[in-house]
Amino acid sequence: MKLLITGGAGFIGSNFIRHILSSHPDYGVVNLDNLTYAGNLENLKDIETSPGYTFIKGDICDRKALEKIEFDTIVNFAAESHVDRSILDAQPFLRTNILGTYALLETAKKRECLFLHVSTDEVYGSTEKGFFKEDSLLQPNSPYAASKASADMLVRSYIETHKIKAIITRCSNNYGPYQFPEKLIPLVILNAMNKKPIPVYGDGMQVRDWIYVVDHCKAIDAILHSGIPGEIYNIGARNEEKNIETIKFILNKTAEKLNISEKELTGLITFVKDRSGHDRRYAIDPSKIEQEPGWKPEINFDEGITRTIEWYISNKTWWQRIISGEYKQYYEAQYGERLKT
Ligand code: NAD
Ligand code: DAU
Repeated sequence: MKLLITGGAGFIGSNFIRHILSSHPDYGVVNLDNLTYAGNLENLKDIETSPGYTFIKGDICDRKALEKIEFDTIVNFAAESHVDRSILDAQPFLRTNILGTYALLETAKKRECLFLHVSTDEVYGSTEKGFFKEDSLLQPNSPYAASKASADMLVRSYIETHKIKAIITRCSNNYGPYQFPEKLIPLVILNAMNKKPIPVYGDGMQVRDWIYVVDHCKAIDAILHSGIPGEIYNIGARNEEKNIETIKFILNKTAEKLNISEKELTGLITFVKDRSGHDRRYAIDPSKIEQEPGWKPEINFDEGITRTIEWYISNKTWWQRIISGEYKQYYEAQYGERLKT
């Protein structure tokens, strides 16, 4: 296979490229990424000279640039991915997540190639009870989720109208190495390491289903090879937890790793004003992918969190560069006032 992987310099995309190059060393990989604040070539430092790997700095909205690239399959990770940023300014989300997907769909139509579109469980919205299946109603609540749901609808329309070979995946919350520290789990680890307040939105009773990023990558690999074009696959770890419990668990593990007092770290927990439109619970039913192609997660939460904390402890230079740059301004704008209360 010659894969065009978009957004490969981000969190999941870089883990996916690493996974593909080690499990399919004969594959070609072109990583197309326009390096937004979330795109970081340091995520790929250890594999940048691998045979078969090429990086192109470019925008998925740029159809002319897409035309020049050689590939036989597209895996689309490129997106604006952070809910809080979509509340501050939705425009980049509409551009990349909708128009970018449209440009890729046009390219897939022309090339008659397989298009695997990486979507999210957020498109289903929130539910207090039960689990969303692949044919559940889409009820996105944030501008981010609405932009992803719009892209899913476009993919569906190209399958129906233009008969393109496309697959949609909808995964739950990922965590693991190289995650940008605006997301809950790396934020908690780094704020604990730096003894900074840990912001808990609202009452902290919101529920997420956490999956280790490499398990998500393996699921996409399985679908890429054995998934059925035209189908949608939920990907989840059946690992639901309330945010406040997740945070306490991470603090307990971080205290153990750093040999510091757990009480000191839990003292950093600070309840702040809730996120607008905050989804109470994401819950998907992953039975379809578990049955066929037969994927199941391999890393439990305890093991995954331990690996993740160890990674952030051993990769200080990686995150120090991030927290001293553009992210610092965002963090101050986002939390400066809220943390004073
Ligand atoms: P991320 O924000 O870490 O990475 C996104 C990458 O896309 C960055 O490298 C960025 O530079 C690139 N990008 C953005 N706009 C682009 C454009 N116009 N052209 C080319 N590249 C562009 O995101 P992530 O957490 O790795 O998520 C990857 C995908 O997985 C997204 O589509 C997201 O919706 C989906 N997803 C994420 C999660 C999660 O928990 N993080 C869960 C389910 C699905
Ligand atoms: O479910 C999949 C989605 O998971 C992906 O599509 C998104 O790209 C990804 O960002 C993630 O969305 P969430 O909004 O669930 O993730 P986030 O890490 O931002 O927040 C997780 C939960 O923690 C959520 O309920 C909000 C809460 N939270 C988050 C932050 C950053 C806090 O309480 N405090 C915080 O500081």
